[in-house]
Amino acid sequence: MRIYLDNAATTALRPEVIETMTKVMQEQYGNPSSIHADGRAMRAIIEEARKKVAKLIGASIGEIFFTSGGTESNNMAIKCAVRDLGVRRIISSPTEHHCVGHSLESVERQGVVVKMLRVDERGRLDYEHLEELLQNDLSTKTLVSLMHANNEIGTVSDMARISQLCENYGALYHADTVQTMGHFPFDVSKTKIHFLSGGGHKFHGPKGEGFIYINNETQLKPFIDGGGQERNMRGGTENVYGIAGVACALELACEHMEDYRQHIEEVRSYFMEQLLENFEDIRFNGDYDGDYLYTILSVSFPQSAKSDLLLLLLDMAGISASGGSACSSGAEAGSHVLAAIGADPSRKTIRFSFSHFNTKAEVDMVVEKLKTIVEVRKMEAVA
Ligand SMILES: Cc1ncc(COP(=O)(O)O)c(C=O)c1O
Repeated sequence: MRIYLDNAATTALRPEVIETMTKVMQEQYGNPSSIHADGRAMRAIIEEARKKVAKLIGASIGEIFFTSGGTESNNMAIKCAVRDLGVRRIISSPTEHHCVGHSLESVERQGVVVKMLRVDERGRLDYEHLEELLQNDLSTKTLVSLMHANNEIGTVSDMARISQLCENYGALYHADTVQTMGHFPFDVSKTKIHFLSGGGHKFHGPKGEGFIYINNETQLKPFIDGGGQERNMRGGTENVYGIAGVACALELACEHMEDYRQHIEEVRSYFMEQLLENFEDIRFNGDYDGDYLYTILSVSFPQSAKSDLLLLLLDMAGISASGGSACSSGAEAGSHVLAAIGADPSRKTIRFSFSHFNTKAEVDMVVEKLKTIVEVRKMEAVA
């Protein structure tokens, strides 16, 4: 049995989600745009899902648009804000996901000014810098695009503070909440956000399906031209089973959020303790004991003979995790996040990420395996 500790990459589908999706696949096949009964039945599934998602994040039904996931939602927020809302300046950070970073490069080529916030060695944003940038140019329509939690190191941003600053200086706010949706509570009726994104596969829903919340004061033109689906924002026949699966997964994630959080926190702290107890010079990346995403633990191992092969050796030992290094040589691409926080390129970073399916017994097994791979062990642990 393999041990899966790569839940920030994707999560296992919950049985209830499989059941919900299978039921749609087996029982319904109409096109939701058809006006006959088969079409209407499919339309009803989509609208029921929209209602659920909207309620879970404090939005109104008309503010939820289903997309193919986090990447599309983030592309849509940034590119439509530039095209349709007159945004000519975007404030972001160097630790954003590539789908945001590359979207920024794309609008930059169209003349949009992109300003990057300073981040510290834990990946924490410099909010004073944000205020300074907002204050310095009040005449240019500005979008602030900042992720809620970093997918590599788990550092969490203060959404309430960013929202307030955006409000004070008349900027739009896009939050990439792909890693935190279903793991943290959201209420867009209390915290003003213009765009927020979610991808089903990060909270035990299906891959390739997600949504974007677009505040109803924000009017955009279609992102994908077509038959006018998703209230004309995204043409193309909807992935109805995916949509039903996303709503089911989010509902269950929100319902069990506190229990799961407690369990995952326990597994994560136990892992940290075991690593510190058994190995020399273990460090953690990100704001690991401050404002952190509890599903992520980014571990920095000291250089050793086998450290470059750590991820591969873990994989061969039946453990799935993710890599990441500050340099860009070798087979693994360098991590722009580790580079941005100034991580030591000679050390080896492994991101372990958890779900409620993980256990302390699995942590014990991973630590045992690591003992056979990582040479820099504590003397008492070797004995
Ligand atoms: C922070 C963040 N944003 C966006 C994405 C992209 O989401 P998706 O895989 O649903 O396209 C990811 C996926 O890893 C992510 O971690």
